[in-house]
Amino acid sequence: MKKLRKAVFPVGGLGTRFLPATKAMPKEMLTVVDRPLIQYAVDEAREAEIEQMIFVTGRGKSAIEDHFDISYELETTMSERGKDLDAIQGTRFRPGEVIYVRQQEPIGLGHAIWCARHIIGDEPFAIFLPDELMVGTPGCMKQMVEAYEQTGGNIVCGYEVPDSETHKYGVITPGEQHGALVEVKALVEKPAPGTAPSNLMIPGRYILQPEVMRVLEGQARGAGNEIQLTDAMAQMIGTQPFHAWRFDGRRFDCGDKAGFITANIALALDREDIAPAVRSWMRDTLG
Ligand code: G1P
Repeated sequence: MKKLRKAVFPVGGLGTRFLPATKAMPKEMLTVVDRPLIQYAVDEAREAEIEQMIFVTGRGKSAIEDHFDISYELETTMSERGKDLDAIQGTRFRPGEVIYVRQQEPIGLGHAIWCARHIIGDEPFAIFLPDELMVGTPGCMKQMVEAYEQTGGNIVCGYEVPDSETHKYGVITPGEQHGALVEVKALVEKPAPGTAPSNLMIPGRYILQPEVMRVLEGQARGAGNEIQLTDAMAQMIGTQPFHAWRFDGRRFDCGDKAGFITANIALALDREDIAPAVRSWMRDTLG
């Protein structure tokens, strides 16, 4: 089995749900407490020992590249003033750790992933959707890699949501279950309300075999008239092992305003430096 070394981060999306905040700023740069969303995803990948990050980006997204670059002005000024550089530690990519590819038209997640096919080559790869903030010990991808080392093949993360939310996501038809590992029998993207095969949705973390790129090559448009990754994955079932891993941790859908605010409150309450002030305000406000 080939070791998982590469990860794709689709970051070309327009972020229309967060306008006007995302008019000039990429949605992946929205901050939860004091870190942009994209950094949580990259840190999760590094924890899972992923060596090469592939960003599928688009116009107006250069703030993401700058975030992971060296900021000479900032570092020099801070050093001259005797300030330590802790706050920007870990935001630099090592030379060669990152590759940027452009998705020239926003026609779906499946198409974004396919844009990275030449860099993936014939290796398994991970995908991170940075809108989804996954908080766990160990992190979500590290948990999935441990499962992958047992099963091989393809693994998607699985997370239970209420019936009222399944229509927003990719949803799994579960088969046999062994602990947190669930056999995947079928997948559907954004099922109409009331028609979802289960409550187990895919919260934006995947480990896939490179054959999915061949399937994406001829993939017809699906839900929302977009080329869907879920539809391509569904065609892999039966040809290769396909499992879901029930993530043991907290999940925040930061592509949604309420989810984003919740993530900020939850992670603020985890932080010793700011939790007391936030908790005290909440107590006063909520009673
Ligand atoms: C995408 C995927 C969907 C997944 C979701 C997670 O949907 O297509 O399968 O469940 O991310 O947030 P999108 O949010 O781009 O509509």
